[in-house]
Amino acid sequence: MKRLDGKTALITGAARGIGRAFAEAYVKEGARVAIGDLNITRARETAAQIGDAVIAVEMDVTRQDSIDAAVSETVERLGRIDILINNAALFSAAPIVEIERAEYDTLFSVNVAGTLFTMQAVARHMVERGGGGKIINMASQAGRRGEPLVAVYCATKAAVISLTQSAGLNLIGHGINVNAIAPGVVDGEHWDGVDAFFAKYENKAPGQKKKEVGEAVPYGRMGTADDLTGMAIFLATQEADYIVSQCFNVDGGQWMS
Ligand SMILES: NC(=O)c1ccc[n+]([C@@H]2O[C@H](COP(=O)([O-])OP(=O)(O)OC[C@H]3O[C@@H](n4cnc5c(N)ncnc54)[C@H](O)[C@@H]3O)[C@@H](O)[C@H]2O)c1
Repeated sequence: MKRLDGKTALITGAARGIGRAFAEAYVKEGARVAIGDLNITRARETAAQIGDAVIAVEMDVTRQDSIDAAVSETVERLGRIDILINNAALFSAAPIVEIERAEYDTLFSVNVAGTLFTMQAVARHMVERGGGGKIINMASQAGRRGEPLVAVYCATKAAVISLTQSAGLNLIGHGINVNAIAPGVVDGEHWDGVDAFFAKYENKAPGQKKKEVGEAVPYGRMGTADDLTGMAIFLATQEADYIVSQCFNVDGGQWMS
């Protein structure tokens, strides 16, 4: 018996990176998974690479019609949604004096409104079919404290932690557990982009910031997407039924709370 046998999951932003690793890990544990991603071409490629238990669903978490359509399509094709991982997010960096309002609006639209309204749409579905379910929101150590060049992203992830707390308290009455995972620094295409931001603002050679952040992790290296899958599986199982509104650091020892 696998830990997620018979379960179905919608994972946003799973065409690549951490979400993709979650999709692969969930399938290995017996679940069927819908990858909801803006990049539908990449989502289809990823689904085909992982196998028959995965479908790709076009989804822009900034648009209500797209969220509703993606949730309906997932329910239609997989039968229901037992687990949601709100994983899609964007990153940006700039000194306070250079932050642009459009960039702020975009990040809050994807990272915060996208998380809230996808959570709402899936929670409505879970409540309609009698309650019960697991929702996991991707926060970040960036949501635990500010950073000089990362004000907007940090604020969005602090908001995700706060939304997780409120939604968890509200939805546990329906048997829906809402919790969050706060990774530290996780190598992959996302961090290639982060490294490029710091190369620009801190005048570093490409790859230098990655090297520095990896060396600063108590565990001794940057994380990998696979380092996070254990927590994502655990929070989706019955063993986590009594865990409500929490945010778990999976970061090699970088943050304690
Ligand atoms: N990589 C890290 O170091 C790190 C650290 C802490 C937290 N996180 C968080 O983990 C999650 C996954 O990170 P990642 O590194 O895999 O990111 P990533 O950039 O590699 O992947 C993000 C995915 O989201 C999709 N996406 C972007 N906008 C979307 C939209 N409007 N609608 C639907 N999909 C959209 C992209 O197409 C992409 O497939 C994010 O929430 C991120 O903030 C990452």
